[in-house]
Amino acid sequence: MSLVSMRQVLDEAAKGGYGVGAFNVNNMEQIQSIMEAARETKSPVIVQASRGARAYSQDRFLYHLMLAATEIYPEIPTVLHLDHGNSVETCKSAIDMGFTSVMMDGSLMPDGKTPSSFEYNVDATRRVVEMAHEKGITVEGEIGCLGGIEDGHGAGLDGLAHLTDPDQAVEFVEKTGLDALAIAIGTSHGAYKFTSKPTGATLKMDVLIKIHQRLPNVHLVMHGSSSVPNDLQDIINQYGGKLKPTWGVPVEEIQLGIRNGVRKINVDTDNRLAITGAIRKVFAEKPEEFDPRSYMKPAREAMKKVVALRMTQFGQAGHAGDYAPISLAEMAKHYAAQPVLV
Ligand code: 13P
Repeated sequence: MSLVSMRQVLDEAAKGGYGVGAFNVNNMEQIQSIMEAARETKSPVIVQASRGARAYSQDRFLYHLMLAATEIYPEIPTVLHLDHGNSVETCKSAIDMGFTSVMMDGSLMPDGKTPSSFEYNVDATRRVVEMAHEKGITVEGEIGCLGGIEDGHGAGLDGLAHLTDPDQAVEFVEKTGLDALAIAIGTSHGAYKFTSKPTGATLKMDVLIKIHQRLPNVHLVMHGSSSVPNDLQDIINQYGGKLKPTWGVPVEEIQLGIRNGVRKINVDTDNRLAITGAIRKVFAEKPEEFDPRSYMKPAREAMKKVVALRMTQFGQAGHAGDYAPISLAEMAKHYAAQPVLV
């Protein structure tokens, strides 16, 4: 099976009423963790790479690792998605490289930090939609800005500073013709999202529900959706780490989102925590070890466990075999016949 478009995976998720985790990768072991979790739970998957990840791993390595994944796990519908493209050019380079889905994050200027104007966002996103749909490739856009800085990307510390306005979301979708819409509801990238368990005042699920009511057929995307669970924090701190107390997005809130139009859920931090905890444990317990496999194997296993759990919790488990992939060429024809799919 070749890499599939994200649009198909999300359309199927909408039909089935479930969400699909989008897990970030930088290296071979993370890709293997995700694919093993997908096989174990029979899940379709979205593997995503940010600009930082592309620079770290180099596009060609990443792309060929993903091709290996499609060869080794042919039964799994697998998407390769660009996370937080900062410009039309970045999206173009991902499309040229073989990504089957791109995010044009025009909510921020190309520096990845400065909130942009609505007009800039519409223009950049629309241009990427035109370029991508011609090749059957999916486009995610963002309206409103997340908090935090991940891979040098994010609007700053306050996740509530640039919440999505539901009216603007409707206009944005109509003007861009995108496939999936990332919204800002108080989450942020990274481990430090909330200083106590989030409430309706800090995690604005009411905004999400309003957007879904206005755009019932649009696939919504929740970024910054790691749950930062205590057990993963504890392992790190038990073995010499120094994480400060912190709270993430509770899985029940994500499940509420899934009942209200959320089809893609971005998770990176939980996997980073799992990997680091496993490596710290080996270093602390077996300081004589120096073969990287002695700590990379448990790290890979720890990430696989987190991913498999999220796949089950998001509902994508069991759905890998539901559908045959539609080729990108077919998707392109589909878009040409019906340029705006919303
Ligand atoms: P977390 O930092 O919560 O895992 O979010 C990742 C993300 O949204 C990537 O775009």
